[in-house]
Amino acid sequence: MKPLDKIITCKDTSFKPIWIMRQAGRYLPEFRKIRKENPDFISLCLNDDLSSEITLQPLKRFNLDAAIIFSDILMLPYGLGQKVEFEKNFGPKLGKLNLNEITKIDDVDFVEKIHRVYKAIKKVSSDASLKNKNTIGFVGAPWTLLVYMINQQSPKKDLKKDFFRDESLINRVLLIIEKFLKVHIKNQIDNGANIIQIFDSWAGLLEEKNLPNYIYSPTLNLVNYTKSLNVPVICFPREIKNYKEFCDIVKPDAISIDYNVNPQKILGEVDIPIQGGMDPKILLTDKETLKKEASKYLDIFKDHPYIFNLGHGVLPETDPNMFDYLVKTVKNY
Ligand code: CP3
Repeated sequence: MKPLDKIITCKDTSFKPIWIMRQAGRYLPEFRKIRKENPDFISLCLNDDLSSEITLQPLKRFNLDAAIIFSDILMLPYGLGQKVEFEKNFGPKLGKLNLNEITKIDDVDFVEKIHRVYKAIKKVSSDASLKNKNTIGFVGAPWTLLVYMINQQSPKKDLKKDFFRDESLINRVLLIIEKFLKVHIKNQIDNGANIIQIFDSWAGLLEEKNLPNYIYSPTLNLVNYTKSLNVPVICFPREIKNYKEFCDIVKPDAISIDYNVNPQKILGEVDIPIQGGMDPKILLTDKETLKKEASKYLDIFKDHPYIFNLGHGVLPETDPNMFDYLVKTVKNY
C-alpha cells in the first residue's frame, strides 16, 4: 500500500507522510534552468519529457512520499480553447471568455489539446522510483476556475463588483467546467494518478450565502465522481471560513488546511484525515524555528491521520536546504 493510502484509507496514525504543494517549482535551480530555456509555460506543461522530468526533480533530492504532476489548474480553460498565458511578475493572463466557442468543444477536442499532460502522468507513475509512492493528479475547483475564466487574471483581494452580473452566463460556464473537470480527472486516473487533489484557491472570496451554489454543490459532484472511480480525493478550499461545514457537506477523503486554520481547533471539529497547515514563510526563517513549527503540527496531529504539507505552495525564494531539513525533520519525528 502506498504511503498516502495508509493515511487516507487505513487512517494510520503511526507515521506521517510528507509531500509539499509546488514541490516542483522555482525554488529548485534545476527547475529554473529548464524554465529559462522554455519561456512558454503552457508548452512546458505539454512537453511530457520535460514535465515528467520536472515532476521527479524534487523526489531525486528529497525523501518525499508523493509526486504531484507538473501542470497547472489553468490547463482546463486552455483545453476549452480560452487563451492562457503566464507573464513574468504578473501571473496568469487569460483571453476573453467566448461562450459560443467553448460550447462547441467536445471531450475529444479537449483531450486532444491537453493529452500530453496524461502522457506525463503515465511516465511519472510508471517510473521505478515511484513504485512505493503516490502520484497525485489535480484539478482546480469549479469556483476557482470560474474566477480565472471570468476575471481573466488572479483577483487581487476581492472580486470585482460586477462579477455576478451575468448570472446565467456564470451558471452555464460552471456546468461546462464541471463536465470537463470530470473528463480531466478520469484521464489522469486512467494514466496512473492514484490520488486527486482539488485546489480551491479562491474559496475565501465568496460570501457565505453563495457557498452552496458555487462551492459545495459543484465540488461535491466532483468528489463523488472521483470516489466512484475508487481513487481518494483531497480538497483544499483555501481560506474558507468554515472548514467543518465544508467537510460535513462535501465529504472529501481528506482535507488540506491553509495556514490561517488553527490546527488544534480543526482537530476537534473533523474526523477525516487532515493535510498541511504550516505557513510556507517558516521555510524562510532558520532551522530552529522550522523544527519547532513543524513539530507543532506533528504533535497536535500525533493521534490523527495526518499528511504533512504546507498551508499553501512553497515560496520561490525558499532555500532547498531548508526544504531538505523540513523533510528530514518530519521523517525523523
Ligand atoms: O508542484 C506542484 O504543486 C505541481 C504544479 C502546480 C503548478 N500550479 C505549477 C505552476 C500546481 C499544483 C499548480 C496549481 C495552481 N495553479 C493553483 C492552485 C494552487 C495555488 O497556488 O493556489 C493556482 C491558483 C494556479 C494558477 C497559477 N499558475 C498562478 C496564479 C500562477 C502564477 C503565480 C506563480 O506562482 O507563479 C501559476 C504559474 C505556475 N504554476 C508556476 C508553476 C511552477 C510558475 C510558473 C513559472 O515558472 O513562471
